[in-house]
Amino acid sequence: MNRDQAHDLRMRMKQQTVEHAHTIAVFSGKGGVGKSNFALNFSIALGKQGKRVLIFDLDIGMGNIDILLGLQPKYSLSTMLEKNLQISDIIEEGTHGISYIAGGTGLSDFFHLDQTKYDYFIQQLQIVASTYDYIIFDLGAGMSEEHLAFIQAADESIVVTTTEPTSITDAYAAMKRLIVHSNRDYIKISLLVNRAQSEQEAQIAFTKLESVVTKFLYYKLNFIGFILDDRLVVEAVKKQIPYYIFNERGKAKKSLDHVITNYTNEPAPKNTRQFINRVRSMFTRKVD
Ligand SMILES: Nc1ncnc2c1ncn2[C@@H]1O[C@H](COP(=O)(O)OP(=O)(O)OP(=O)(O)O)[C@@H](O)[C@H]1O
Ligand SMILES: [Mg+2]
Repeated sequence: MNRDQAHDLRMRMKQQTVEHAHTIAVFSGKGGVGKSNFALNFSIALGKQGKRVLIFDLDIGMGNIDILLGLQPKYSLSTMLEKNLQISDIIEEGTHGISYIAGGTGLSDFFHLDQTKYDYFIQQLQIVASTYDYIIFDLGAGMSEEHLAFIQAADESIVVTTTEPTSITDAYAAMKRLIVHSNRDYIKISLLVNRAQSEQEAQIAFTKLESVVTKFLYYKLNFIGFILDDRLVVEAVKKQIPYYIFNERGKAKKSLDHVITNYTNEPAPKNTRQFINRVRSMFTRKVD
């Protein structure tokens, strides 16, 4: 962002003190199922409802929210830590009403920070947590130690699958690893079925997963909804315009509107500890 924008953002950030951001981690088992497109367009749709939304690209070395937005960010979270920049300097603000941060290098780097950098990271994170209503993390596919930690720190998570059996099986494997390593009472996982041919097909995919998750993992999976398979998404990606903006009447856009309505009508999960405290404990688990 330019200097004026960074200055304005810094001023606004200074005025905020109370942490209230609701944090959502988006993950999947299999790659290429539509996480980044969902995370981005979901963020834009929330933004259109007047929410202040920050999307954090935390896909290890493969982040591509910037490409979907047609942006070329100058800085990333890694450069912030390297060069002691302020978080407002690395935020790309205003594209389609949302803000964006690129993660830069691997997630695992964040677990090997020295004490000074760690303190600085937490301090800067605290600033964004009190500035935005929502922080959405787009994680890469799979369930590494780092993914686990970020998902557990977030207020809730959304697992994305398509209706293909391979994608469903991998979503189950990722959830299994997450659930067995978490306290079931403190995590909320919702399923998003992407590229469904119909509502019925999405429901079948959800019911399949819900039943195995209940039976074998003793966990009640939530259903956040589905996005229809839509060739306009492919076109929108090629044009580097988020599909929510690209075509008002597109099938994917309309299904996302239903998802947002369901989501905003549901009560948000209550968490006893705030996000920053959960991030702190995720580091104390790793950093000695
Ligand atoms: N609802 C949809 N309808 C049609 N095509 C879609 C839809 N969602 C995603 N796609 C296609 O799938 C591709 C991959 O999407 P995306 O990059 O969001 O996946 P991803 O899960 O983030 O991938 P990765 O695991 O590599 O991060 C898109 O470029 C687009 O072509
Ligand atoms: Mg992605």
